[in-house]
This record gives sequence, structure tokens and C-alpha cells, in this order.
Amino acid sequence: MDSMEVNKGVAAILVAGIAFFITGTIGDQLVRNHRPEKTAIEIKGVEAPAGGGGAPAPAALPPIAPLLAKADPAQGEAITKKLCTSCHTFNEGGKAGVGPNLYNVVGAKHGHMEGFNYSKALQSKEGPWNFAELNEWLHQPSSYAPGTRMAFAGIKNDQQRADVIDYLRTLSPNPKPLPPVEAAAPAAAPAGQAPAGQAPAAGQKAAPAPAAQAPAAQSPAAQTPNAQAPAAVPTPAAQGTGATGGSEAVSPTTPAAQPPKQ
Ligand code: HEC
Repeated sequence: MDSMEVNKGVAAILVAGIAFFITGTIGDQLVRNHRPEKTAIEIKGVEAPAGGGGAPAPAALPPIAPLLAKADPAQGEAITKKLCTSCHTFNEGGKAGVGPNLYNVVGAKHGHMEGFNYSKALQSKEGPWNFAELNEWLHQPSSYAPGTRMAFAGIKNDQQRADVIDYLRTLSPNPKPLPPVEAAAPAAAPAGQAPAGQAPAAGQKAAPAPAAQAPAAQSPAAQTPNAQAPAAVPTPAAQGTGATGGSEAVSPTTPAAQPPKQ
């Protein structure tokens, strides 16, 4: 009798195991789990890793200078009220919360608040907080300083990020000057050319290009009113005039127009 009970128990376990295995196998056959080739939801600025070029996400960020040039610090203050004041104070001599006080942080060293217990990740960053670094940091703190204690996803909207950085800049007895826009334009041009060379490779790779180019095309326009015409007019006009600055900035914006000519 006893051994019968034991047999029943063992059989029950076996049957359960077999049933589990069979349903699992059938389930696998019925539902194929393909990984989608393209991300369903495209998040602006996180394009680079998807392209598979091994380029880190920050490389896809458009240059900060042109964005800062049209940034609105009042808008930035409003954004920080929503996103940052739960952890940070912004006034001079303000107390630390979960995060450090942020008065006069632009241009200061990483971990600028005396006595705040910063993570190693942040402390090990060399040099001052410049605009480009703040841009990367606020885009995604965890990728700028892996291991940081700032539990904040980041601001993905480029202009909003620039607004916030511009607001931080004003929190100082003598605010750092805005970075010159012309310095960013040559930097953007090669960035725009690279994807142009790769254009046949993938539609995905071309996506970051317009983002990087847009400011490039705008920056000369913002500086010199003369440049506005070539910037707005299609490529052939810009090339005809022979304006070097204009054609450089404009030609990468129309990678599609170039191949037929060559
Ligand atoms: C959940 C809390 C939290 C939120 C929200 C948050 N931060 Fe932070 N922040 C921190 C912490 C904690 C640190 C210190 C990070 C470390 O030591 O790794 C920090 C550090 C920083 C630093 C570097 C300061 C220094 O002295 O080097 C800056 C700049 C900064 N935060 C800006 C912002 C801005 C701007 C926002 C809003 C858009 C924001 N933070 C939102 C918690 C937060």
C-alpha cells in the first residue's frame, strides 16, 4: 500500500514534468520570438547604438553651442522646477538634498559642492563642467558617469536640455560666456559627412545626420545675415556662389543630391 502511494507521488511529478515540457515546446513552436530589427519606438538622440557602429550615445548629440544660442533660461528654470528640485537646490549657499546644491556649477570642477558625498563615478571625472559635458550628463547621467548616484533618466529633448544648461549658467556671480557658435559648425560638418559616406548602408544611420546638420546649417545663418540666402537656397546655388562656409555647411544636408552629380 505504502509503495503504491510513493509510486503515485512519483508518477504525479513525472506527469507534471512531462506536461510542462510539452506545453513549453508547443508554446515555443506557436509563438516565435523574433527580435525586431528596428526599434519600435525611436527615441531621439539614442540612435547611434542602434546603428551598431559602436559609437557611444553621446556622439549622436547635436552640438550644444547652436542650441544654447537660442536657449531660454526662463524655460530652463521652469524645467528644473519640475525635474530637479526634488533633489537639488539652486540658490547661492543652498543646502544639499538628495543631490548637491547647484549654484555656480557651470565651469566648476566635477563634484563642486564642499562636503557632499559624491559617488566615485562623478569624482573620478577630470576637469571642469563645461557645456558639452553638462549636455552629455543631462542627456543620460548613467551613461556619462556609470555608477553615478543621480537617479535621473535624463532630458532627451535637445532644446530643453540646452534651456536647463543656460539656466544653470546664469546661477553665478559672473556667468560663463556662451560657447561661440562658429566653433560648433566645423565640428558638425565632419559629423554630417561621415553618415553621407555610409548613406547606402542603412536608412537608420542617415537618421542622426539631419539632426546633426540642422544646427550646422543654422549656425552660419545666425551669425552672418549674408549667409542666410545660401543656407536657405538649395545646394547648387550655394556651390555656384563659391561661398566656402555656406557650401560646406549646406552640402552635407543633401547627401541624396550629391551621388547623381558625381
Ligand atoms: C533623484 C534625485 C536627483 C534628480 C531628480 C536630479 N539630480 Fe542631479 N544629482 C543627484 C545626485 C545624487 C548627484 C550626485 C551624483 C553623484 O555623486 O554621482 C547629482 C549631481 C548633479 C550634478 C553634478 C554636481 C556637481 O557638483 O558636480 C549636476 C550638474 C546635476 N546633478 C544636475 C541636475 C539637473 C539639472 C537635474 C534636473 C534636470 C537633476 N540634476 C536632477 C540627484 C538628482
